[in-house]
Amino acid sequence: MRTQVGIVGAGPAGLLLSHLLALRGVDSVVVETRSRAYCEARQRAGVLEDGSVRLLRESGLAGRLDRQGLEHGGIYLQFAGERHHIDFRALTGGRTVTVYAQTEIVKDLIAQRLADGAAVHFDVSDTEVDRLTSDRPVLCYTDADGTRQEITCDAIAGCDGFHGICRPAMPAEVLTVWEREYPYAWLGILADVPPSTDELIYAHHRNGFALHSLRGPAVSRLYLQVDPAERVGDWPDQRIWDELARRFELPGWELKQGPVMDKGITPMRSFVSAPMRYGRLFLAGDAAHIVPPTGAKGLNLAMADVAVLAPALDALLKGDERPADAYSAACLNRVWRSTHFSWWMTTMLHRTPGADEMEAELQLSQLRYVTSSRAAAMSLAENYTGYRAQPSGAGLT
Ligand code: FAD
Ligand code: PHB
Repeated sequence: MRTQVGIVGAGPAGLLLSHLLALRGVDSVVVETRSRAYCEARQRAGVLEDGSVRLLRESGLAGRLDRQGLEHGGIYLQFAGERHHIDFRALTGGRTVTVYAQTEIVKDLIAQRLADGAAVHFDVSDTEVDRLTSDRPVLCYTDADGTRQEITCDAIAGCDGFHGICRPAMPAEVLTVWEREYPYAWLGILADVPPSTDELIYAHHRNGFALHSLRGPAVSRLYLQVDPAERVGDWPDQRIWDELARRFELPGWELKQGPVMDKGITPMRSFVSAPMRYGRLFLAGDAAHIVPPTGAKGLNLAMADVAVLAPALDALLKGDERPADAYSAACLNRVWRSTHFSWWMTTMLHRTPGADEMEAELQLSQLRYVTSSRAAAMSLAENYTGYRAQPSGAGLT
């Protein structure tokens, strides 16, 4: 078999890349180990930067997003028994984020790719990539019927997430890796109950961090900081609601409770692997970098990577190697900004097990600063809605 770009992984990065390439007339094949139903139901991100929304609109993918997405002009930060609003619109000259679940983006992308007649193969196994330094790399896999397949490509995109096979296919000696694991995890629930808030609440509490997000007018998404060694079975529904109510407690405000439809524990890590290219293999999204979810950046980074990769691959196939050569550096600049912002939000808001009172006071001081200084709030708002570096240095002299 033959295609121009072989894409490993049908997450947001792989599916969006396939679509952006198709808009440029470039042919691709997507292979995915999981089933379509699994990919469409996997509970993950919920917040899109305005740049991600624009990308989806400009590439004709925003029909449902524009009808069902919820535009938010800020977030709440809660600490020391007070809830403060950070007003993104006022702080950034009108910028906002949109709450629209990753499950819905993946459903929209799969529907569009299949309607366009694209090759998206689910339920594959034993994916391998080879001949990466040649101009005819190969992608091999066993299809859902058990038949071994080999696709000759012009380039391969590794969009197979943190645990995929593409990053390990690069020789270890060409890679530099930075990694930090955090001593906490998130227990996330999806609940069949209207949100108790109009915008997301990020809460710092002595018992640990909590986040109130949402999935629409009738569905809430909530997270609790827990120990990474804990199991979902340790957390019956009522224990979760009681702990959420404690961490969000505010006089005159009540957390509405309802049936829990999904429950999961996610470890937290920061990870960057560079370069994002080896020969004709290009990594995008979680395959190359992971951030803790506190900054709501992972999905946005995955989308930003493929927005750079699609034109770079198009140029490469037409004989111009320069955008492909610049791909890794162009992405890593944004990746490191989001890595720092996610680390900063995470360490400001979580309780580190065993930390002393000094650390707790430093966190509170930082939270008071962010909620009382316009300059500090502006920095949070600029990063949360999506930082765009200004080549001129933003007029600083
Ligand atoms: P993935 O979504 O991981 O997709 C990779 C795909 O590759 C998967 O479908 C996988 O099955 C497939 N695959 C793996 N190995 C192989 C193989 N060998 N062969 C074929 N296929 C393979 N980000 C935000 O921007 N905002 C948020 O609010 C946010 N909240 C989050 C909350 C939680 C609880 C979590 C866990 C994450 C959150 N994120 C958030 C991060 C975001 O979900 C990820 O960054 C995003 O999924 C990355 O997309 P991706 O396509 O790169 O990788
Ligand atoms: C979510 O809605 O799942 C979500 C929102 C904001 C985050 C992380 C997750 O920072």
